[in-house]
Amino acid sequence: MDIIPLPARIEPHPGEFRLENETGILVDSANHWNADYLRGLLSAPTGSHLKDFPINVMTEAKGVKNVISLRLNPELKQLSREGYRLDVRPEAIVIEAPGIAGVFYGIQTLRQLFPEEIEERHLVSGVDWCLPCVFIEDTPRFSWRGFMLDEGRHFQGKETVLLTLDLMAFQKLNVLHWHLTEDQGWRIEIKKYPKLTEIGSQRAGTSKTMLGKQHDGIPHSGFYTQDEIREVVAYATERHITIVPEIEMPGHSLAALAAYPELSCSGGPFEVALHFGIFPDIYCAGKETVFTFLQEVLDEILELFPSPFIHIGGDEAPKARWKKCSACQRRIREEGLKDEHALQVYFTNRIADYLDTKGRRVVGWNEILQKNLIQSAVVQFWVRDRLHLLDAIRTDKRAVVMSTYLDTYLDHSYCLMPLSRAYRYEPVPVELDDNNGGSILGLEFPLWSEWIPNRARLDYQVYPRLTAMAETGWTLKDKKDFKEFLRRLEKFLIRLERLGVHYAPLKDAEPSRLKQLFCIFTIAQPQTRTAK
Ligand code: ACM
Ligand code: ZN
Repeated sequence: MDIIPLPARIEPHPGEFRLENETGILVDSANHWNADYLRGLLSAPTGSHLKDFPINVMTEAKGVKNVISLRLNPELKQLSREGYRLDVRPEAIVIEAPGIAGVFYGIQTLRQLFPEEIEERHLVSGVDWCLPCVFIEDTPRFSWRGFMLDEGRHFQGKETVLLTLDLMAFQKLNVLHWHLTEDQGWRIEIKKYPKLTEIGSQRAGTSKTMLGKQHDGIPHSGFYTQDEIREVVAYATERHITIVPEIEMPGHSLAALAAYPELSCSGGPFEVALHFGIFPDIYCAGKETVFTFLQEVLDEILELFPSPFIHIGGDEAPKARWKKCSACQRRIREEGLKDEHALQVYFTNRIADYLDTKGRRVVGWNEILQKNLIQSAVVQFWVRDRLHLLDAIRTDKRAVVMSTYLDTYLDHSYCLMPLSRAYRYEPVPVELDDNNGGSILGLEFPLWSEWIPNRARLDYQVYPRLTAMAETGWTLKDKKDFKEFLRRLEKFLIRLERLGVHYAPLKDAEPSRLKQLFCIFTIAQPQTRTAK
């Protein structure tokens, strides 16, 4: 059976279940949405209406035949909140779980037992809608199975985000880290500060090369209104995906400073960046107005996103401006801080404390991990100081999300990060005997979008590496096997193709050693900005 991610336990049985026009869905009161979702998947390609069986039939369900039954079962205590049981027998299919998320994931597994034509959104005739009998019991390894989408560099738009959520759900991923602000663009409407989008969401062109000064002169713009954000969040919530918004600070904030230059140390003026890299102008840490601004922006973010986690970036914040700024230097003196690095800790802690009072946990890139960082803050590890991270895990039980950049960055070429490397990434550091009581919340694969102008390019970079990650996030380590994964992946790719995903073919995703060696020399070149 070609299921991705590989379930914890699979026991095939003789026989098969056949979906027919008369097949119905038997559903308890908690699973009406799941039933509609399942109907939405199956009805169009099969032509079956999959009518609900009335609830009184449910109570005497034993004799009911030719149904798919979705129900909660609080007695399945061995499964986590996201676990499920799927039993396919000739007379009925039963999906049961301790919670509705588990039933939803059971549906995603069931979907992969059907012939691949099930992924079409139109009637497919001539297919025998048969699936093999099997008993599956399944539960995830990690609670954070994430994908990061950077829309600061390139705005993709709502349709792409909704499709991303659908594909994430299909792969049992449950965190969309939405990187919404950058030097090159501010992508979310903030009512109190309209210039963030009036000015900050537009730029006059986009860099043509990684290092050169040329840009294409083609204006790029786009942002999400708050109504659109609400729609996307609701769509994600239905699919059991938490959207963790990222409002980057104090660095990577040039688009905001172009709109409100008084929030910088120098006062500006600035323009939204046309080039990529790390920029020296960042939020001033000495001015109280900066904290007022950020808290008021975050107030609107908290209204829009129910996520318990709010990402505040924190990476790549150069200290040159703070060194020369009288307000920043006064803050250092008055707070008794050692230097500008300690000033960033002060900055992070003020925001983290503020979010803590609102009942939310801060997430930041590992640069925020310093002495005195608030205990509730989650660290997303991407680079450098591994020993420091291990120390924080061992002594402070620091919660972390693992995104070691050479193993997880989806914008990297397949030469640098072939599919096998993505698959073999192990989020729990080898130095730890186990998961240290759950310190490692899970893993995340980020897509930085400097060279991702459209969905075709996005698909090519993301798939199939994100599919590999999905298996690491869900399946127990000792059940993973790359060769065997490749066999299942072949079938999965056919499904992705039917869903309209422009994935990288395996000859690109897993280049030969010779090709890898050769293309190391091309890494310094920008990747083509069009789809292959
Ligand atoms: C990062 O890649 N700057 C987090
Ligand atoms: Zn300053």
